[in-house]
Amino acid sequence: MTEQHTTSPVRRVALVTGGSRGIGRESAERLAADGFAVVINYAGNHTEAEAAVAAVVAAGGDAIAHRADVADEAAVAALFDAAEEAFGGIDVVVHAAGVMTLAPLVDTDLDALDRMHRTNIRGTFVVDQQAARRLRAGGAIINFSSSVLSLALPGYSAYAATKGAVEAMTLILARELRGRDITVNAVAPGPTATALFLDGKDEETIARMAAQPPLERLGTPQDIAEVVSFLAGPARWVNGQVLRANGGIV
Ligand SMILES: NC(=O)c1ccc[n+]([C@@H]2O[C@H](COP(=O)([O-])OP(=O)(O)OC[C@H]3O[C@@H](n4cnc5c(N)ncnc54)[C@H](OP(=O)(O)O)[C@@H]3O)[C@@H](O)[C@H]2O)c1
Repeated sequence: MTEQHTTSPVRRVALVTGGSRGIGRESAERLAADGFAVVINYAGNHTEAEAAVAAVVAAGGDAIAHRADVADEAAVAALFDAAEEAFGGIDVVVHAAGVMTLAPLVDTDLDALDRMHRTNIRGTFVVDQQAARRLRAGGAIINFSSSVLSLALPGYSAYAATKGAVEAMTLILARELRGRDITVNAVAPGPTATALFLDGKDEETIARMAAQPPLERLGTPQDIAEVVSFLAGPARWVNGQVLRANGGIV
């Protein structure tokens, strides 16, 4: 007689930084629809974070919100603790939290540079350190770069420099995690219709940038969440890559 083993499948868990708004929020909702329990991190926007949780729950998923500055190592350790306590472990980290200030290099406010450095570079180190220590086998770390790095757009020097650092650490961490069965990739969106891109730009600038890709529109958070869903789920053979999701802009 064949022995029957009934093992209940372990539910996969995703932690999404910057999950209260924009690309992070859409990614959290998409991963929840894919079957993940999701932990939605945010910096200060409690109302939006709770709205993101409510949207996941309304769609039949499981989510909690947890506030933490991604650059604060104690707060991020507590964020990962909260995720493990709520859902028993973590499989995927989507590190979408990021900030952007634009200015020509010659006029760049060095305090703004330091703020971007703190959130975008230090924050990625802090989040990826916790992810590297805690993710279960079969997991994925998804960082965020930007297509402006290769576009070399005037005004983006400080922001693009922080994303260059994200790409460097992504490729190296992928190799450092040899033997763990954890993929590490970066998504590099082109212009995407979120507050980070839209705020402070006039309509003419937005229309000009929207016309640049061959697909002749801005990216949407859904476009990027599709790529996140792929990297978080089926894409086990994509590792140590920067995936430029930008409608073909060059
Ligand atoms: N939009 C684009 O065109 C574009 C293009 C290329 C790359 N990206 C990258 O994609 C990622 C997501 O961008 P987005 O457009 O979705 O931005 P967004 O709409 O401005 O949302 C930013 C998110 O990051 C959170 N956040 C900011 N600083 C944080 C901190 N110190 N600690 C924790 N959370 C923090 C915000 O939380 P609160 O709500 O609490 O403030 C919010 O949830 C970023 O890394 C960005 O650089 C965006």
